[in-house]
Amino acid sequence: EVWNPSGKYRVVSTKPMPGTRWIHLLTDQDCRVEICTEKKTILSVEDILALIGERCDGVIGQLTEDWGEVLFSALRRAGGTAFSNMAVGYNNVDVKAANKYGIAVGNTPGVLTETTAELAASLSLAAARRIVEADQFMRAGLYDGWLPHLFVGNLLRGQTVGVIGAGRIGSAYARMMIEGFKMNLIYYDLYQATRLEKFVTAYGEFLQANGEQAVTWKRAATVEDVLSEADVISLHPVLDKTTYHLINKERLSIMKKEAVLVNASRGPVIDEAALVEHLKANPMFRVGLDVFEEEPFMKPGLAELKNAVVVPHIASASKWTREGMATLAALNVLGKIKGYPVWSDPNR
Ligand code: DGY
Repeated sequence: EVWNPSGKYRVVSTKPMPGTRWIHLLTDQDCRVEICTEKKTILSVEDILALIGERCDGVIGQLTEDWGEVLFSALRRAGGTAFSNMAVGYNNVDVKAANKYGIAVGNTPGVLTETTAELAASLSLAAARRIVEADQFMRAGLYDGWLPHLFVGNLLRGQTVGVIGAGRIGSAYARMMIEGFKMNLIYYDLYQATRLEKFVTAYGEFLQANGEQAVTWKRAATVEDVLSEADVISLHPVLDKTTYHLINKERLSIMKKEAVLVNASRGPVIDEAALVEHLKANPMFRVGLDVFEEEPFMKPGLAELKNAVVVPHIASASKWTREGMATLAALNVLGKIKGYPVWSDPNR
């Protein structure tokens, strides 16, 4: 699909993206926009090389694509200077290789913070209250009357929420769980989450002033402290060498037997095979997963487990957010092409 065919700058989007605002931003600034409408979900390096072709000023790509040496050198040869991932995460992008070829890299933070945190909160609730299991039970026609033991799950009120990676998304998630369910907080992050700490302190004081029990917060010294103390744990680190298999067999074993674990960051943060074994051995332990180690696949056994809620990497999937991500990605590419600052550069 081609927009503004006579535009001076050729910008390629490897996927159709929501809304048209991002397209108009580019076409209004003399860009010819080419959108790949290939049916295949995940494009290979070869597919993308063909899209880049002989002349290309910038590309908007997706987190499913492998943006490394091969693609950045091809983009450079085609006269390109700009690339943006339509995602906040950029573990699929070799930023060093891009820099080597003089290609600016952008990502799309901010617009997806609340949407992603809402999905992590949804997974926390769905897992704790066994929503999916109960839904399947209803649809199977198995409900034959109220019973005291039917789908008993966990109450969140007064329990402890654990956050590993208290950046933008982790902090937004923590706020939702604290304000919504009056949970206490324990978090682990290399940096102090000062605003989050202030929020919990102020909210605790507010509760106390209204005759309720205050909520508390604690910054943990280790990941283990969070895992052993929290009742609901949500993972929000970036994926890099230090966080690959952050949650492994040993660390799973120190979690409470009835804990809930949520992952809406990146799949390889959890050793998924170890998780499957842990779920099998501990039926009261529950997970909510938005991401998987080798997407689009799940490790054998996971799909059969009742104590796992699984969704297909949809954490940022609200209309407002996805249109915002597309717009930011277009602004990133446009910025570099036209010599404005790149809207969001992960190097900065
Ligand atoms: C991201 O942006 O990194 C998410 O995984 C998709 O929204």
